[in-house]
Amino acid sequence: MTLQIQSLEQYQKIYKESVEHPEKFWAAQAETFTWRKPWSKVMETNLSEPSIKWFVDGKLNITENCLDRHIPTKGEQTAILWEPNDPNEKEIRLSYRELLAEVCKVSNALKQKGIKKGDRVVFYMPMVPELAIGVLACARIGAVHSVVFAGFSAQALADRVDDAQAKMIICSDYNQRGAKVIPVKQIVDDAMDISCNSVESVLVHRNTGGEVNWSDEIDQWWHELVEGQEEICTPEPMDSEDLLFILYTSGSTGKPKGVVHTCGGYMVYSCYSFKNVFQYQEGDIYWCTADIGWITGHSYIVYGPLLAGATTMIFEGVPTYPDAGRFWQICAKHKVNQFYTAPTAIRALMACGDQHTQNHDLSDLKVLGSVGEPINEEAWHWYNEKIGKNQCPIVDTWWQTETGGIMITPLPGITDTKPCYASYPLPGIQPCLMDAEGNEILENDKEGLLCIKYPWPSMIRTTYGDHDRCKQVYFSAFPGKYFTGDGARRDSEGRLRIIGRVDDVINVSGHRIGTAEVENAINEHPSVIESAVVGYPHDIKGQGIFAYIIAEQGTWNDDSFQKGVKQTVSKVIGPIAKPDMILIVPGLPKTRSGKIMRRILRKIAANELDNMGDTSTLLNPNVVDEIIKLAYG
Ligand code: WT7
Repeated sequence: MTLQIQSLEQYQKIYKESVEHPEKFWAAQAETFTWRKPWSKVMETNLSEPSIKWFVDGKLNITENCLDRHIPTKGEQTAILWEPNDPNEKEIRLSYRELLAEVCKVSNALKQKGIKKGDRVVFYMPMVPELAIGVLACARIGAVHSVVFAGFSAQALADRVDDAQAKMIICSDYNQRGAKVIPVKQIVDDAMDISCNSVESVLVHRNTGGEVNWSDEIDQWWHELVEGQEEICTPEPMDSEDLLFILYTSGSTGKPKGVVHTCGGYMVYSCYSFKNVFQYQEGDIYWCTADIGWITGHSYIVYGPLLAGATTMIFEGVPTYPDAGRFWQICAKHKVNQFYTAPTAIRALMACGDQHTQNHDLSDLKVLGSVGEPINEEAWHWYNEKIGKNQCPIVDTWWQTETGGIMITPLPGITDTKPCYASYPLPGIQPCLMDAEGNEILENDKEGLLCIKYPWPSMIRTTYGDHDRCKQVYFSAFPGKYFTGDGARRDSEGRLRIIGRVDDVINVSGHRIGTAEVENAINEHPSVIESAVVGYPHDIKGQGIFAYIIAEQGTWNDDSFQKGVKQTVSKVIGPIAKPDMILIVPGLPKTRSGKIMRRILRKIAANELDNMGDTSTLLNPNVVDEIIKLAYG
């Protein structure tokens, strides 16, 4: 059984051991799984390359550990509990036995379509059980899944499909999100028209049953292919370091990068972190509201909970449909014990009023989780009082797509909690704060750049197709350490507080968006000459997107121009990257070397005008006053 820490003393003891004898610690975690062949060495890592190998030479299949392993003890237990968008529709329950059978059928179906070990399969789907089943089916046959969040545009989907050179896309006909119906198959058709030359077939899951365009050569219905397949499929023995999945995420430069995770280390870490952070107990109902299109959904809807033999809920809908009480209605209906969501959702629901939290029995809740962005004090207290009734510890979990699993978090009922603090590292994780000169900051009550100074099993292995980029972005700033891109503060008692990104990445509603990506999208608008994008504080989203645009004459302050820019961004990336504020400006503050001084633009966007700092090195210092005047009159 995976370690589950029970007390503060045990946490402290195990943490110490994990630092002193990391290989022994991780070997003990890994031993609890089913391996086809044991590893010869716990780890073999060189962070400057980086070359990262865990459980070297080990052979396993993660789905054997998620599914087959649980059949003797909990075959009839619900593995996946699916709650539909429409509250009047019935939920679906899949026991571990049923889930295994479904996964095997889809595995056989994929094989029949020629999908083999190592092939990439892109998913572009709503939150239906078939998404989890499809992902697991890939893992079972050794295909590499890459789930693309279904809010991305056809162009963004095509970019990811091309980068991964995917052989197949699996999608739905339509998605339902609240009152909206989204023509997903059409978006896939559009992506196929843009490029996607590597794609041989598109598998379509019938979700709403709406009309779709069809090409007999490429398209195939999921139900037609899957029906009648064998319910048995031998899991492919995978090397620990064989690819499990690619997940695209934004960075500070142009193109999104494909973060690569591998089989062995990811399996060990997602299960270990799940069990400890949520203190899952037999029989509990666990619910993470994230989308499987993000890492949170991978690690804490699908893999972590299933590896731990938990009952994991998948919710198709949105927090405000049919009303802002939906989350709490679902918690009451299914007697949810652990609830994991994002601060942006909490803030949005808080703004809808407390009446929506009432009349729902939330007494089964034991642990509340927060993820994706800093949780502000007001939202933390609201979550604690209105949802947790002051009875449920809040775990403010800090991690990243690249870390594969939760790194810094309170342990509920074990370590203390403090608003805004992700607090303490999990055993096995060694965070540190660095100063700009590359020295580790050892004192408390100091702020610095957050690094991890020792490898852990689920860390990023590479960025797909571009290893050098991985090295540059994460392993070059501080040699021998993983650099997170976040700034953090350690309080006088050693708790860590995440301040936010120190690079050109904005966190909008918990979604990571690169400023360069948004600028490139805006620049595709025919009347745009140049643009600069920064984040600014936003009450609900955490950060909003502020775009400064130099436009061709005649388009100034024109409503339809602003609308056009937003449409362009939606088309190139997706609605999540649409600017919240657009300001047409005569120029952008630039240094003599031509670099845009974003520091100044950030201050203006945040309405922090008293201290603009040194603008004397600017090529065009006057433009600063002009921009301020345009923004604030
Ligand atoms: C970035 C990673 C981790 C899954 C969801 C986001 C920010 C994440 C927290 C937190 C403050 C947080 C960081 C990080 N972030 N969790 N608890 N407190 N900030 O994954 O899209 O890879 O984004 O999200 O800035 O670097 P992601």
